[in-house]
Amino acid sequence: MKKIENFIARSESNYEQLYKKSIENPSEFWNNIAETFYWKKKWDKTLDYDFNKPEFKWFVNGKLNITENCLDRHLIENPKKTAILFEPNDPNEKSQKISYEELHKRVCVFANVLKSKNVSKGDRVCIYMPMVPELTVAVLACARIGAVHSVVFAGFSSTALAARINDAKCKVLLTADGSFRGPKVIDLISIANHALVDCESIESTIVLKRIGSEISLKPKQTWWHNEILEVTHECPSEEMDSEDMLFILYTSGSTGKPKGMVHSCGGYMIYSAYTFLNVFQYRPKDIYWCTADIGWITGHSYIVYGPLLSGATTVMFEGVPSFPDFSRFWNIIEKHKITHFYTAPTAIRALAKHSVSLVDSNDLSSLKVLGTVGEPINEEAWNWYDKNIGKSKCPIVDTWWQTETGGIMLSSLAGVTKDKPTFATKPMIGIQPVLLNNDGKETSSKNGEGILAIKYPWPSIARTIYGDHDRYKNIYFSAYPGYYFPGDGALTDNEGNYRITGRVDDVVIVSGHNLGTAPIEDAINLHPNVVESAVVGYPHDIKGNALRAFVILLNDKIEIDMENEIKNLISKTIGPIAKPDVVQIVSGLPKTRSGKIMRRILRKIASGEKENFGDISTLLNPEIVQEILEKS
Ligand code: WTA
Repeated sequence: MKKIENFIARSESNYEQLYKKSIENPSEFWNNIAETFYWKKKWDKTLDYDFNKPEFKWFVNGKLNITENCLDRHLIENPKKTAILFEPNDPNEKSQKISYEELHKRVCVFANVLKSKNVSKGDRVCIYMPMVPELTVAVLACARIGAVHSVVFAGFSSTALAARINDAKCKVLLTADGSFRGPKVIDLISIANHALVDCESIESTIVLKRIGSEISLKPKQTWWHNEILEVTHECPSEEMDSEDMLFILYTSGSTGKPKGMVHSCGGYMIYSAYTFLNVFQYRPKDIYWCTADIGWITGHSYIVYGPLLSGATTVMFEGVPSFPDFSRFWNIIEKHKITHFYTAPTAIRALAKHSVSLVDSNDLSSLKVLGTVGEPINEEAWNWYDKNIGKSKCPIVDTWWQTETGGIMLSSLAGVTKDKPTFATKPMIGIQPVLLNNDGKETSSKNGEGILAIKYPWPSIARTIYGDHDRYKNIYFSAYPGYYFPGDGALTDNEGNYRITGRVDDVVIVSGHNLGTAPIEDAINLHPNVVESAVVGYPHDIKGNALRAFVILLNDKIEIDMENEIKNLISKTIGPIAKPDVVQIVSGLPKTRSGKIMRRILRKIASGEKENFGDISTLLNPEIVQEILEKS
């Protein structure tokens, strides 16, 4: 078997050579990488694709099971190595180290539990759980038997959970009696029960006891700890085709319901592992910590799959950076001698607001590599991170990618290629980015600015939107035929380093979470006293962006506090992450003569601008701009 080590870039020239090979002969290149993994049957052809259909098939007719590569393979070389290092919400609760051997056993046991609930290959399983080791066990147990996992972030509301369960027609729900989040206890089971009222496809629910509250389960619900006593710990892995579905993960779009992005087994496996090793330059003794939640793609690819495929020790943290105080992250780094720390700009900005003595009272000398993901990082935050956390000696990888791309697309390679504040820098090996102008023509790759697009497939590109291939085509492949269109703008410097300038659609990134403005407006409009609404994003010091809602009421004389009502309604329909900072009641919205809301003007007002709205005389109702300004 080939060794992956021979394909990891360890110097800048090495990166350039590998990059060149990956572009000149992608099939040969990815064949080599794929041959470093364990397959049940080798593939016939590396890639079949058609951007117009669109269709992407990697490692055609190859057979594998990703858990064999995440678990079984490591049992031969290093069974006792810690796979998961779990740090609980409460610093007084003991952390846990789970070896590869133990994780393998727990996964097999839980896979058998799923089988006992009639789950088989292709069935969808919804996972709505806190950040505890059982969440990773659940994910891998699905993959073990070929069931498709759909993890729903445990901060989503019951309405959002039900919508996701119903979209994928999940057969089983895995949840917990509750979850700890800083000083709060979240009543997960009640939220789940509320959702289940509308979910006919769910045949059984398995509940993990995490907080230990006295609850009685409903019919078709069982306790996790009882179920695992009923089965053996032997579970051969299901043979999966490269293109069989591995998971569905929902992400919000600029319009309509959330998009269930579908990832497949073979390509996702190869790409998540290959990028993990190149970007982070992980070495066998390192302790790697990504602070994301497994409810997001970052957690899927860089807490679970990438690290476990690479035999790494991956940290799972249940809590929040502010509990018991704002030094928690730094305490954990010292406690577990973390070498790799991967977090989001919004967390960095929030932590930078507090006294640096909270950082300096901890020994952070174990750190070698820092990373950021989720949104553009501003220069001030980058410099604070570099100086105070990295002590100016740790490379920072600014990784640009998406739920849809499955793995990192643009980033420096830690200590191997140069980093540059606010720049995601260079394409990953195998990735061919371009900048397009508004006419869809490629512009210069140096000192350019435009719409970012990718002109060649990569192994972990999402294959479709679950149940809606036309929508997949329309969103990502229609505006610029022949390219994948991610929805971000970018510019390049004179060395061809990329800097992401932000979304070019109606998606706003708030604290690193993608939020489509249309679904939030839909939620507001559910209120019987709302006529119409418009939600826009505006720059915010810590969150990157915040939301402001402009709402027209049917009756603005009523006694109730409509601003709070609307915030609560959004919380209930989508989740607290989508709550606007400001709800402004208005008597009208600026519109074009064809009736389109002029969001550009609302964005400016929300950003605090008082003038320079351009020519507003052509609006249907130009006087409304002044009125909104006066009341804002
Ligand atoms: C944004 C998260 C700038 C971008 C992995 C993208 C970034 C969206 C970066 C995807 C970065 C992510 N610099 N912007 N390093 N990383 N983004 O699907 O707008 O939650 O399209 O995936 O986040 O968010 P998603």
